[in-house]
Amino acid sequence: MGEEVVFSGIQPSGRIHVGNYLGAIKNWVKLQDQHLCYYCVVDYHAITSPYEPGAFSQAVLDAVAANVAAGLDPDRSVIFVQSQVPEHTELCWILGAVTPAGELQRMTQYKDRARVRREVVNAGVLTYPILQAADILAYKGTLVPIGEDQAQHLELTREIARKFNAAYGPTFPEPQVSFSPSPRIMSLSDPRVKMSKSIPGSYLSLMAEPAAIQETVARAVTDTGPTPGGEMSPGVATLFHLLDAFAPGETAERFRAAHRQGGLRYSELKAVLAECLIERLEPIRRRYRELMARPETLKDIVRHGTARARPAACATLEEVREKVGILKV
Ligand code: TRP
Repeated sequence: MGEEVVFSGIQPSGRIHVGNYLGAIKNWVKLQDQHLCYYCVVDYHAITSPYEPGAFSQAVLDAVAANVAAGLDPDRSVIFVQSQVPEHTELCWILGAVTPAGELQRMTQYKDRARVRREVVNAGVLTYPILQAADILAYKGTLVPIGEDQAQHLELTREIARKFNAAYGPTFPEPQVSFSPSPRIMSLSDPRVKMSKSIPGSYLSLMAEPAAIQETVARAVTDTGPTPGGEMSPGVATLFHLLDAFAPGETAERFRAAHRQGGLRYSELKAVLAECLIERLEPIRRRYRELMARPETLKDIVRHGTARARPAACATLEEVREKVGILKV
């Protein structure tokens, strides 16, 4: 078992695309080799956004299936669902007592969501980062692989850990952040914005069928106009990032050389990229389909993960309750 305790949260919302895969999951998969990793589907976070109750538990299992298909290994990593370990929400309450309310109001994610939703923003959106801190600290997590959009939340987790330690004595490590080494993958339909599952045509689902992969890649924006100094345009750069991730090294090199010499044919690049994507994603799609056809296997994965996560969270909570001075009878 490794020296770090890795923790990350997985949103159960929507389908995973290659941007999520390269930006997060691939990093999680790699960390499994060296460390004790907790990967948690954060269903209690998700219900702070509009969602469909009737489809929700299936969406949670779907997220488990997709991430396992993409390489998270339930035997090596602790793969589980947040709501199944009630110590997260209990710790969230206790940590709320050392969290400055002003910090919560300063979170950009909260401000964005408060601005977008014209109706009154719910309190869960405000306290969301405390639950995130509780997720990590329940396992005394030391390393948190996340996207850059979560950096501010992690900074607050560190502050909450410091505040708790200062009030009640050394208890929690201050977790470090780990960003994915791969470049951010931009939208295929508009390379100025991030690949996003809310914009059709912008993303490539990890579970896409070959025909859909071909079509999405064929439609991807390449040049949007002349680029200064013959620089690679953002759309072409995205295609190269995908080639780097999914094609053999010499293939990417061959196309780079062609680009430098001004002889790059986009149609050829796209055809090769689509082929590589189809080939590399095929096992993921197959495994996903197998898992989705076996809900009991999926539930077993969740039960197995819960059985490993819960004792660790309970041990932390016992220590925390005692330090905080909670009655024990
Ligand atoms: N807020 C994170 C996101 O939207 C998900 C999350 C919840 C998380 N708890 C976490 C990430 C703990 C890392 C650690 O992506």
